[in-house]
Amino acid sequence: MARKFFVGGNWKCNGTTEEVKKIVTTLNEAEVPSEDVVEVVVSPPFVFLNLVKSLLRSDFHVAAQNCWVRKGGAFTGEVSAEMLVNLNIPWVIIGHSERRALLNESNEFVGDKVAYALSQGLEVIACIGETLEQRESGSTMAVVAAQTKAIADKVTNWENVVLAYEPVWAIGTGKVATPAQAQEVHCELRKWLRDNVGAGVAASTRIIYGGSVNGANCKELAAQPDVDGFLVGGASLKPEFIDIIKAAT
Ligand code: G3H
Repeated sequence: MARKFFVGGNWKCNGTTEEVKKIVTTLNEAEVPSEDVVEVVVSPPFVFLNLVKSLLRSDFHVAAQNCWVRKGGAFTGEVSAEMLVNLNIPWVIIGHSERRALLNESNEFVGDKVAYALSQGLEVIACIGETLEQRESGSTMAVVAAQTKAIADKVTNWENVVLAYEPVWAIGTGKVATPAQAQEVHCELRKWLRDNVGAGVAASTRIIYGGSVNGANCKELAAQPDVDGFLVGGASLKPEFIDIIKAAT
């Protein structure tokens, strides 16, 4: 099954109302390949979700950067999957390494969150990736397999899941994985999905790369057979995000 190229822009904890409007204007004015060729999703902070949704072109979609693990209630500061659905926000990023590291989100917690968000009808960008220490000790595949297994243990339908491989050492560092490094892990992840979930899921699930993707390195990464798109941080706040979207063709 052909996998449609996917480009996500994770704006992280950045932006003012004026800056957000400026980014959206740039996106709205851009000429990019059609929705049949590339799926584009941008992820502003919660407080700007509605604003972005109301201004953004209709062929691009919006994602939240997180949601609560279960139904909402007495969980101060959290935002539930139900609320995102109520606001017509179709996507959510779950398990970003910044949350895993800074907020101690475990593999199991991330797996539960992915399953709950899917059960409410959201589409999920599920993030995985190893630290530099883990890569240097040769445990990259064991780490990403364990992270993926914690999701696979809770999820039966993978149709609405995009898996984002984001090596922690490449995030925000300007030190991008080489195309060969990215392809190696993506290929292994696809094999893992084939062996542990099923051939259909392995063939159809988009595995996207994140970590210092920019306008200059995106083409070569996109040419790798198992790289199905990108999750972009810093460069998604800049006009070069358009060039990254164009890497789909
Ligand atoms: O979610 C996006 C990743 O954390 C990549 O961020 O492109 O700034 O390295 P970056």
